[in-house]
Amino acid sequence: MSRVASLVVLLSTLSVPLLLVRGSPPGPVVVCRSGNSDCNVTNAYGTFPDRSTCAVAAVAFPATEQELLLAVSDASAKKQHMKAVTVYAHSMPKLSCPGGPSGQGLVISTARLNRTVNVDVARARMTFDAGITLRALLDAAAASGLALPHSPYWQGVTLGGLLSTGSHGSSVFGKGSAVHEYVVGMRLVVPSPVAVDGYYAKIISLGEELGRGAVGCQGFSRRSWSYLAEPTNNSNTQVTLQLEPMFKRSITNRIVSDDIDFEQNISSFAAATPYGDIIWYPSQAKVIYRDDFKLPITTKGRGLNDFLGFQAQRTGLVAFSRALEESYERTENAIAKCNRSVIQVNALILFGMGLKNNDGGTSNFTGYPVIGNQSDMQSAGSCLRSEEDELNKACGWDPRFRGLFYHQTTISIPFANITGFVADVKQLRDANPSALCGTELYLGFFMRFVRNSTAFLGKTEDAVDIDITYYRSRDPLQPRLFEDVLEEVEQMALFKYNGMPHWGKNRNIAFLGMRDKLGAKLDKFVDVMQRYDSEGLLSSDWSDAVLGLNGKEVVVEGEGCALEGLCICSIDDHCAPGQGYYCRAGQVYGEARVCRKVETTMGVQRAHDVSHALIV
Ligand SMILES: Cc1cc2nc3c(=O)[nH]c(=O)nc-3n(C[C@H](O)[C@H](O)[C@H](O)COP(=O)(O)OP(=O)(O)OC[C@H]3O[C@@H](n4cnc5c(N)ncnc54)[C@H](O)[C@@H]3O)c2cc1C
Ligand SMILES: *[C@@H]1O[C@H](CO)[C@@H](O)[C@H](O)[C@H]1NC(C)=O
Ligand SMILES: *[C@@H]1O[C@H](CO)[C@@H](O)[C@H](O)[C@H]1NC(C)=O
Ligand SMILES: *[C@@H]1O[C@H](CO)[C@@H](O)[C@H](O)[C@H]1NC(C)=O
Ligand SMILES: *[C@@H]1O[C@H](CO)[C@@H](O)[C@H](O)[C@H]1NC(C)=O
Ligand SMILES: *[C@@H]1O[C@H](CO)[C@@H](O)[C@H](O)[C@H]1NC(C)=O
Ligand SMILES: *[C@@H]1O[C@H](CO)[C@@H](O)[C@H](O)[C@H]1NC(C)=O
Ligand SMILES: *[C@@H]1O[C@H](CO)[C@@H](O)[C@H](O)[C@H]1NC(C)=O
Ligand SMILES: *[C@@H]1O[C@H](CO)[C@@H](O)[C@H](O)[C@H]1NC(C)=O
Ligand SMILES: *[C@@H]1O[C@H](CO)[C@@H](O)[C@H](O)[C@H]1NC(C)=O
Repeated sequence: MSRVASLVVLLSTLSVPLLLVRGSPPGPVVVCRSGNSDCNVTNAYGTFPDRSTCAVAAVAFPATEQELLLAVSDASAKKQHMKAVTVYAHSMPKLSCPGGPSGQGLVISTARLNRTVNVDVARARMTFDAGITLRALLDAAAASGLALPHSPYWQGVTLGGLLSTGSHGSSVFGKGSAVHEYVVGMRLVVPSPVAVDGYYAKIISLGEELGRGAVGCQGFSRRSWSYLAEPTNNSNTQVTLQLEPMFKRSITNRIVSDDIDFEQNISSFAAATPYGDIIWYPSQAKVIYRDDFKLPITTKGRGLNDFLGFQAQRTGLVAFSRALEESYERTENAIAKCNRSVIQVNALILFGMGLKNNDGGTSNFTGYPVIGNQSDMQSAGSCLRSEEDELNKACGWDPRFRGLFYHQTTISIPFANITGFVADVKQLRDANPSALCGTELYLGFFMRFVRNSTAFLGKTEDAVDIDITYYRSRDPLQPRLFEDVLEEVEQMALFKYNGMPHWGKNRNIAFLGMRDKLGAKLDKFVDVMQRYDSEGLLSSDWSDAVLGLNGKEVVVEGEGCALEGLCICSIDDHCAPGQGYYCRAGQVYGEARVCRKVETTMGVQRAHDVSHALIV
């Protein structure tokens, strides 16, 4: 394909459409055989990291707290396991799958629990049903002149879901960027083994506990409570957030065309930039600093963040672009990936990443800074809101067409170790110059800042959260290009630099060793959970596995398991020896065990010999 043609395709793929009104909103994540029973549950990507199906007996759609109480009570009386599922289910791991025997559990959808319950303008506090989406929440707050200080960048998440996984934006100012830091009250419904007022479930109002905490009694601090919901031994129903009066944000993406020593400056940039983030494109040696500041509401500007990657995309073009990516993988054409990522990054830069200077409508990016209300700048996601158009346009990863399909490794590395980590990745890159090009089709190494927290499962140190997104084959047994380098980066972040995984993203192995990483915090969390769900009806194999409980494990060993992050290889069969991928030591982090392609001219047997020589 000529360069011009590919540029056109890329731009359309990134979707810079003039009219953004049509496109299909996501489909349902719970699909039932009859009515609300005999159902399968997945997530927004249509598949979990292990590609299994999660079958449940039924789904309930309570619309009020009373209906939720009833649903939990009914299940609890039957000793049925249950889990909350949200309207779009945007987490990757198998969080929404209930425990107990497959096909017997209940999922409780929070899709209809989406009201604004209360507004206290004087104290800048609002109470919402936990199923409200971030977009609806920000709109409701803005209608009262209020703003949520920090949030994830994606509007499709719900309040209950984002709190459950510790979701965040980017900041080390004040209490930091995690939304759970701004919770001042919460109501939970928990099962009860004995009837209370006729229900086998009860409502717990954590506002009272929070109050006691605030006057200095012993007990849990605010933030521990606010983060109680992960990984859900309870269903939260309402959440009260501490907001602040609406303000403006000024964003300038500053592009630096070399990455020499940039790692030395990450901490000082974070300390100087209240909403800053960094995109590092290692193969292009390019760094984009988001200079992002708070301004008074009186500042002029009607800017809007309509991030290109979250706009509705033409499904035909995304499918075409995916097919190209598959062909580059098949033909092992890493250079083509590199070329394509250069074009794509240049396009993103040209269109200001999707920032618009003068509100939605027909206007678009005309130059920096882009200044707008916090509620319009803090997150994006117009692909969710478009009108149904029979899948002509949709979110790029919508599983109803063969579009984007990827893994995402998201790990927080303490500031104290970030320079070491980046320096190691640079060493790997220098030894394999085209290995990381694939990540640059998905925002490279995307770095955001999060503060330490008293939340049980929150960060233990101020940290740089890094999103690394990369190709996932539709065939679980098919290795990806530079499989070994991507695996080494993942293991380095997790084990050499003691990184903490994002609870709502990642492949299974990211959750190895959480007991040791969280220590006493995790034990306290388990104690509280046990107090509120003594029969474990809200726990599941996955929640037990990530917490290291009941002998459950995150690792699923088997043929090719390392390719999907279901295990760290220890034998060649965990890779794809038939395709020349063998289990080897890392190049920079010697303790890593990764699936490396060993050149085949030597023949398979020779390769084996070399492997032993290398490992010894
Ligand atoms: C495109 C995209 C962009 C993203 N951007 C960011 C980002 O910028 N920053 C960030 O930190 N994360 C980000 N994420 C991750 C996302 O914030 C988390 O995965 C989040 O948990 C998803 O929320 P959800 O409402 O979809 O919850 P789900 O994924 O549906 O649920 C997560 C967990 O919460 C539980 N749960 C949900 N609601 C309740 C409730 N009411 N009571 C009890 N338990 C409940 C569920 O049972 C499940 O265990 C992004 C994800 C996507 C897909
Ligand atoms: C659920 O998934 C299983 C296994 O993939 C499939 O056989 C079954 O038909 C699905 N059920 C529904 C209701 O889609
Ligand atoms: C709440 O959900 C209903 C559908 O269940 C929807 O029609 C309504 O627009 C939603 N409200 C908000 C504020 O999102
Ligand atoms: C920004 O917020 C202010 C204060 O709440 C409001 O008056 C104004 O209309 C908002 N601007 C836009 C573009 O929504
Ligand atoms: C890093 O910071 C120093 C001083 O703080 C500055 O002189 C230098 O230009 C910065 N380097 C980069 C790559 O931004
Ligand atoms: C990559 O780009 C270079 C320079 O633009 C070009 O010479 C080369 O043919 C391209 N390679 C591939 C595989 O597209
Ligand atoms: C930007 O907006 C102008 C006017 O609304 C329009 O003519 C132009 O085509 C737009 N450009 C892009 C790339 O969307
Ligand atoms: C991480 O940082 C701590 C504190 O500076 C240091 O002691 C430790 O050696 C670092 N770890 C690595 C792997 O560099
Ligand atoms: C977070 O770190 C700061 C500074 O290192 C420390 O003073 C504070 O106690 C820590 N907070 C938590 C909640 O761990
Ligand atoms: C939930 O509670 C049960 C019973 O007390 C316990 O066994 C289980 O480990 C808990 N699950 C979580 C995720 O804490």
